Amino acid sequence: MVKRLALLAIIAALAVSLAPTFLSGDAAPVVAQEVDCGTEEEVTINFIAGSVGNEGDAANAQIAQFMEACPNVTVALSARPDSTTEGLALYLQFFEAESSDVDVYQFDVIHSGVFAEHLIDLAEYIDQEVIDSHFDAIILNNTVDGRLVGLPWFTDAGLLYYRTDLLEKYGYEGPPVTWEELEEMAATIQEGERAEGNADFWGFVWQGNAYEGLTCDALEWQESSGGGVIITPEGVVDVNNEAAIDIFDRAAGWVGTISPEGVISFMEEDARSVWQAGNAAFMRNWPYAYSLGKAEDSTIADVFDVSALPGGEEGESAATLGGWQLGVSAYSENPEAAAAFVNFIASEEGQKFRAINHSYLATIETVYSDEEVLEAVPFFGPLFDVFTNAVARPSTVSGTQYPEVSELYYTAVHNVLTGETDAETALADLEGQLIDLGFEAPEME
Ligand code: GLC
Repeated sequence: MVKRLALLAIIAALAVSLAPTFLSGDAAPVVAQEVDCGTEEEVTINFIAGSVGNEGDAANAQIAQFMEACPNVTVALSARPDSTTEGLALYLQFFEAESSDVDVYQFDVIHSGVFAEHLIDLAEYIDQEVIDSHFDAIILNNTVDGRLVGLPWFTDAGLLYYRTDLLEKYGYEGPPVTWEELEEMAATIQEGERAEGNADFWGFVWQGNAYEGLTCDALEWQESSGGGVIITPEGVVDVNNEAAIDIFDRAAGWVGTISPEGVISFMEEDARSVWQAGNAAFMRNWPYAYSLGKAEDSTIADVFDVSALPGGEEGESAATLGGWQLGVSAYSENPEAAAAFVNFIASEEGQKFRAINHSYLATIETVYSDEEVLEAVPFFGPLFDVFTNAVARPSTVSGTQYPEVSELYYTAVHNVLTGETDAETALADLEGQLIDLGFEAPEME
């Protein structure tokens, strides 16, 4: 009982009530398909979801569509913490208490292994044809011991946002293809813009806080430089080499030069706020920032575009695979209605709505060739290969150990960024720590 009350207090504290706010042009589309509501009884489903950028608006719009089709089901939305690292800790508290206070969890692509035992097998509730319409790799990722623990809601891949007007102004023909080029272009544009009076202008903003987001950024630097993938799918530690050392030392050199000192505590929205204020030439971020940047009230709406991230050499770009799944709690008292809600919001129609209005990457291939989608988010076409070839973090091979692996990794990288240690020392130590966790030592060269 005490535990239950404590959890209720946590959820009450967190429940930033995200009232449905439809922006103009953001109206709910006509729902064409017949809707399965899961139950005819009056029930309430508690849904915990993200609120980074426009996530709350997008979720509320879909909740309103579902409740219109299923008036007997009330869906109550609570916000998870913006940091997925903190969200993990919160979800584990609910799961460990076997709490029925949350029915549906929006969970990160890296956490299927960690949460699997607390989530129902959605294959028992959702048509195989629907499951098969999603990208195979994500379905595979979400299938743990033969059970489908999450239905994909949207996928994610790291992108480079760049200012088209400033590239032109400083005589560059296109976005940088190597990290070295990015460094040079960022420094030149920053110097020029500051000389013209914008003292707040920065070359490059990204996610440098000690959290999961830094694991994503750093894996992109590392992989695109030929520096390995942290741990290979076979379980071999793959992090301590010259290429990785060089790129992490290079990134440390960005802090306080082309990137603000404060970048070492930036998460996604911190980077976006500098960028969207018009105060950065380049930004590394996920696709959600596109629709926000293109919004009517955005000052940079007509002067930016997105491309693949730079790499160590031309053509060596890497994007970290992100994305979010919908899982139904094994402790839910209304699994049928919860699964029906999940099925509705992750449907092709639902994903099309989210792509058009909020630039979330669909997990269903047909959405990428839809004309309305391509008109609203043209980058879905040319960057399709970037999305489908994104580099996974080592969460499948690490299973329940992934949070520990990631924490060791982002802590090591963060220590390099802050100058507390150099990359050579940090990566040698990290290699030892990962071997201590039970992963295989690489063969000596
Ligand atoms: C995005 C990604 C997610 C990742 C997180 C890190 O939300 O979709 O996979 O873990 O960013 O901050």
